[in-house]
Amino acid sequence: MAQISPSILACDFARLGEDVKDVCERGIDYLHIDIMDGAFVPNISFGPSVMKSLNKVATVPYDVHLMIEKPDRYIEEFVTDNTEFITVHYEACDDLKATLDHIHSCGVKAGVSIKPGTAPEVLDPYLADIDLILVMSVEPGFGGQKFMDSCLPKIRYFATAGQTQVAGLQQGDTPCNYLIEVDGGVGSANAHLVKEAGVDIIVAGSAVFKAADRSAEIASIKE
Ligand code: DX5
Ligand code: ZN
Repeated sequence: MAQISPSILACDFARLGEDVKDVCERGIDYLHIDIMDGAFVPNISFGPSVMKSLNKVATVPYDVHLMIEKPDRYIEEFVTDNTEFITVHYEACDDLKATLDHIHSCGVKAGVSIKPGTAPEVLDPYLADIDLILVMSVEPGFGGQKFMDSCLPKIRYFATAGQTQVAGLQQGDTPCNYLIEVDGGVGSANAHLVKEAGVDIIVAGSAVFKAADRSAEIASIKE
């Protein structure tokens, strides 16, 4: 069993409010908000004003995925009453610890994402400061891409690292307490792979919004 965070990147933007309202009534846990700057990734999505306008219809918390260079410039823009996680890319930060502290100082949980080419061990020094690890299973930038199964050993790595760290805690250590999320190319046909590997939250864009039966697709991804 996993939680689900549908990516609104796959919505029909001409009817964004209706699409968001619709999936919020079908048993989802979060809304995944993909922010792209045309620099860190070769695509531009939308900005904070679009996200904020959804506060009128969204009934689940936001899981904000910042695919932008130097994300510290924009953290405050994405803090709303609906924002639960703000996730930055390891590859986009000059001082990751400072960025995590910045996100926490805004009263929201801090996530870190790694691209398919980034080794999971790079996050070892930061694990106790991270609330959410977002493992990319496609190159960030576009929805509707093919799932890369190279994400599976990384999900297993983080699932094991969390357990090992908890088992080996010394007095005074800060325990790890992060959730593991996967993003890109996941739907009901392959969700079992990421769940077996130990994922907590599954992002699904095309699979949910383009499904003939969204409720069935959501239930099948989660179960
Ligand atoms: C890709 C985005 C993903 C994407 C997922 O850069 O971060 O969240 O929208 O879309 P699907 O599920 O269609 O691969
Ligand atoms: Zn995303």
